[in-house]
Amino acid sequence: MAPGTIRPMTEADWPQVWEFFDETVQAGESYAYPLDLTSGQARELWTMRPPGQTVVLEESGTVLGSATMGPNRPGRGSHVGTGSFMVAPLARGRGVGRALGEYVVEWHREAGFHAIQFNAVVETNTAAVRLWQSLGFEVVGTVPEAFDSRAHGRVGLHVMFLRL
Ligand SMILES: CC(C)(COP(=O)(O)OP(=O)(O)OC[C@H]1O[C@@H](n2cnc3c(N)ncnc32)[C@H](O)[C@@H]1OP(=O)(O)O)[C@@H](O)C(=O)NCCC(=O)NCCS
Repeated sequence: MAPGTIRPMTEADWPQVWEFFDETVQAGESYAYPLDLTSGQARELWTMRPPGQTVVLEESGTVLGSATMGPNRPGRGSHVGTGSFMVAPLARGRGVGRALGEYVVEWHREAGFHAIQFNAVVETNTAAVRLWQSLGFEVVGTVPEAFDSRAHGRVGLHVMFLRL
């Protein structure tokens, strides 16, 4: 059973999200956000505005993870959605990422998107690659040496795609 409840992120959630956002970016294995973001700058980047949205998965008042979703490109690209995901390090491996991933796929389906594209999945991020593949995404291409992983050096970024 997936833990917690998924609901839109509020301002009050941000301090908890910021904690694992910063930890995840500094860990250096999954996201190419600037390394010196302030909390306010990160909130600006993580908060999606309509027609997109940002959600959290909360369990008993604790935010365990967060996801963004919405059109990948404006205008003539807006029928393809995208998403980003972060789970608090202590809450990983318990189904939070899968619950958020399933939510994001369903959200796009209900909103009438044609497909979902993840733009930059680090090829050495095994948990993410396996999770997205298990939800039906395929790797449609890999940009070589595009991510400077803290542990592995320059590795590829997968573009992953799911037709809805
Ligand atoms: C990737 C991430 C979102 C997964 O969240 P999670 O809550 O740990 O994942 P879950 O517990 O829901 O696991 C789902 C699946 O992921 C895969 N997975 C999770 N941890 C794994 C690990 N350590 N090794 C291999 N696969 C793993 C498995 O396929 C698992 O499938 P299962 O449900 O059959 O066990 C989370 O690890 C995270 O926030 N990582 C840092 C940020 C990031 O990588 N975001 C995604 C960028 S594309």
